[in-house]
Amino acid sequence: MGTKEVEPLDVTTIREDFPVLEREVGGEPLVYLDNAATSQTPERVIEAISHYYRHYNANVHRGIHQLSQEASIAYEEAHDRVAEFVGADGREEIVFTKNTTEAMNLVAYAWGLNELGPGDEVVLTEMEHHSSLVTWQQVGKRTGADVKYVPITEEGYLDVEAARDLITDDTEMVSAVHSSNTLGTVNPIGELADIAHDHGAYLFADAAQSVPNRPVDVKELDVDFAAFSGHKMCGPTGSGVLYGKEHVLEGMEPYLYGGDMIVKVTFEESEWNELPWKFEAGTPSIAQGIALAEACDYLDEIGMKRIQRHEEMLAEYAYDRLTEFDDIEVYGPPGDDRGGLVAFNLEDVHAHDVASIVNDYGVAIRAGDHCTQPLHDVLGVGASVRASFYLYNTREEVDKLVEAVDAARQLFA
Ligand code: ALA
Repeated sequence: MGTKEVEPLDVTTIREDFPVLEREVGGEPLVYLDNAATSQTPERVIEAISHYYRHYNANVHRGIHQLSQEASIAYEEAHDRVAEFVGADGREEIVFTKNTTEAMNLVAYAWGLNELGPGDEVVLTEMEHHSSLVTWQQVGKRTGADVKYVPITEEGYLDVEAARDLITDDTEMVSAVHSSNTLGTVNPIGELADIAHDHGAYLFADAAQSVPNRPVDVKELDVDFAAFSGHKMCGPTGSGVLYGKEHVLEGMEPYLYGGDMIVKVTFEESEWNELPWKFEAGTPSIAQGIALAEACDYLDEIGMKRIQRHEEMLAEYAYDRLTEFDDIEVYGPPGDDRGGLVAFNLEDVHAHDVASIVNDYGVAIRAGDHCTQPLHDVLGVGASVRASFYLYNTREEVDKLVEAVDAARQLFA
């Protein structure tokens, strides 16, 4: 079943789940269109955090008292829930981190710095977020490995044929964004994984803008690693996830040393704990992890396919309305073939000025380079404005965005 056939969301009812959507900004109703940066939090996720602190706040894996046991079970089961959400085999494949960036760095440190050397290659794309680009760039500098970039086409798609040429038997890692946070392009991650595997390389999917917005099955895509952030999927800040195939994680050195990641320690030696705890040193973000599982329940009850369709509909509508203006350039693929966001610029008006005027209308959008400076260099601009949608946004909010952007146009005309 394609996304066009799924039952539309009941957005009026969904909006009631998000307390912040009742607020005003400068006397105008809030129109929150910065979801790619962070999403809003439904009442039941807020309640999960509150319930933890009110009823069973305790450290995990450290106590035999009742509260510690309750916290440990809830925290461990949260890993199972996230595993189920993305189709992983179980908690062994799910490491909780504080965000996508930390998940990327975990692999860079635990695998990259140990395994890469001169003659090895890491292949990225021109549309990588800094979390992947800067990380692998620095690993390249420290290990002597070459870092290469798959170019994008004029329309903002990944040049998959170029990827086939760039990925060779020297390639050890292909790290690619699944859904671009700037272009809205949804990359063929499964195909890239196949190409990487044909050359004995790993595929790391930056899934920060895909797991919150569409059904993602890591086994179906056959990626070796995937990283995403809980705070972009109705969860709290401080919750992120690294998925890794069990045998791959098993073969990796720890990233952080300390408590909880060991099973036995002497003055001379330490023995590592089982997965995923081997990669979760110290007291983890317990409340955040438990609340992330609640966010998974919430999203699944609504249906990820329906959320995807809703976002696609809003992105297409915004694309169509914005491209009606001759002096607005929208970046990335056509409106009917993109994830739920649109980045654009008004001719001769700086992105920050646009975002500032739009804010006067109560509309929250992001302006800047969106942590993709090299991609902006390719686009030939220093910054852009970005509206990004989620399950609680409406067509009327897109209209409000367009009205506010039009006001900015007229002000600077
Ligand atoms: N990566 C986030 C964004 O695109 C912060 O806004």
